[in-house]
Amino acid sequence: MDGNGRWAKKRHLPRAVGHQRGVEAVRSVSRAARAMGLEALTLYAFSTENWSRPEDEVSALMGLLKHFIQSDLAEFVRDNVRLRILGEWRALAPDLVALIEDALEQTAANTGPALVVALNYGAQDEIARAATKAAAKGAVTIGSIEAELDTAGLPPLDLLIRTSGEVRLSNFLLWQAAYAEMIFTDVLWPDFSPAHLHDALAEFAERERRYGGR
Ligand code: IPE
Ligand code: MG
Repeated sequence: MDGNGRWAKKRHLPRAVGHQRGVEAVRSVSRAARAMGLEALTLYAFSTENWSRPEDEVSALMGLLKHFIQSDLAEFVRDNVRLRILGEWRALAPDLVALIEDALEQTAANTGPALVVALNYGAQDEIARAATKAAAKGAVTIGSIEAELDTAGLPPLDLLIRTSGEVRLSNFLLWQAAYAEMIFTDVLWPDFSPAHLHDALAEFAERERRYGGR
């Protein structure tokens, strides 16, 4: 989800407003994803590298996250949404950790579409942690690493979308992206709508996936 800052700058608004509008896009796109029957939607909300941003921006992002969980948890419970968090979220502020633990607990029995939030997440860190755990248990294989990744138990990654015109992965789901289709769009995240998601899925459906075969 990239482009919140540029969205705000174009309108001469504070960056925080861009992030607020970004949360609204999260809400509408994740609802649309469920309505379209997607099994899982993963959102890159905060990376291990985002800590290098100014303190006021980091705290604005954390505040928005807190508010998002507080305001939308009842909907996740009601709509059978399986909430999952990727990354080192237990290292976040204690109040946020407690809030996340409660949200996970309240949705633990849900069996529906997964809403996955990558929080304090970096793919290299995820792979290193998974490999360490796999090694402690025995042979390090593709399968044994995969079983320890934060995404264990989630469906394979089919489509990865990056907004705002940047053409790189920025440490997101590096392992899982091995055979994912990718779409890079110039649309800034706050402008990304259910219609954009629909178009991306239509483009995905046209792709021929060969997984190294022919
Ligand atoms: C992405 O928007 C938001 C997060 C990091 C959560 P940016 O803040 O990176 O927006 P740009 O790249 O400055 O436009
Ligand atoms: Mg950015």
